[in-house]
Amino acid sequence: MASSSYFLLVALFALASWKAIASDPSPLQDYCVADNSSRVLVNGFVCKNPMDVKAEDFFLAAKLDMPRDTKVSKVGSNVTLINVMRIPGLNTLGISLARIDYAPLGENPPHTHPRATEILTVLEGTLYVGFVTSNPENKFLSKGEVARERGWPVGLAR
Ligand SMILES: *[C@@H]1O[C@H](CO)[C@@H](O)[C@H](O)[C@H]1NC(C)=O
Ligand SMILES: *[C@@H]1O[C@H](CO)[C@@H](O)[C@H](O)[C@H]1NC(C)=O
Repeated sequence: MASSSYFLLVALFALASWKAIASDPSPLQDYCVADNSSRVLVNGFVCKNPMDVKAEDFFLAAKLDMPRDTKVSKVGSNVTLINVMRIPGLNTLGISLARIDYAPLGENPPHTHPRATEILTVLEGTLYVGFVTSNPENKFLSKGEVARERGWPVGLAR
């Protein structure tokens, strides 16, 4: 199918150009747990003293297995974001995780991730995903399928 070949091509191009776009050096430390009480602003939070680091700094009982309520949202989606604000041990590592619950025909409004790419999978239902470009090429993603995303995932029927 022409449309799926094109999608694969886009994904491969993204991988090929990765090094040119992502120029951040590798982290110099295995961890730099966020000291959110520091008033010093750097690229991320200042590192907490390693002697004060606790197992809890890398843990969150997020209950990501539990469905979220999508009725109160005007756009029909509920984003549960797990980032450095919730797990201080993620600081400087450039990684986070989100659970998104969609109501039928709900959407995650257009947004960008400067210098960041996400990869998503569908656990239940069908999701219409794509890039925001002048030549849109979108795709329905089914349960268990994975897509690299940079833009605007829209939820459709569970
Ligand atoms: C800062 O960290 C402390 C201890 O981990 C936590 O209780 C507090 O909620 C955090 N504050 C913010 C603004 O993230
Ligand atoms: C997201 O879901 C939680 C848990 O069901 C709920 O408490 C919260 O109000 C919802 N938030 C939004 C913005 O829909």
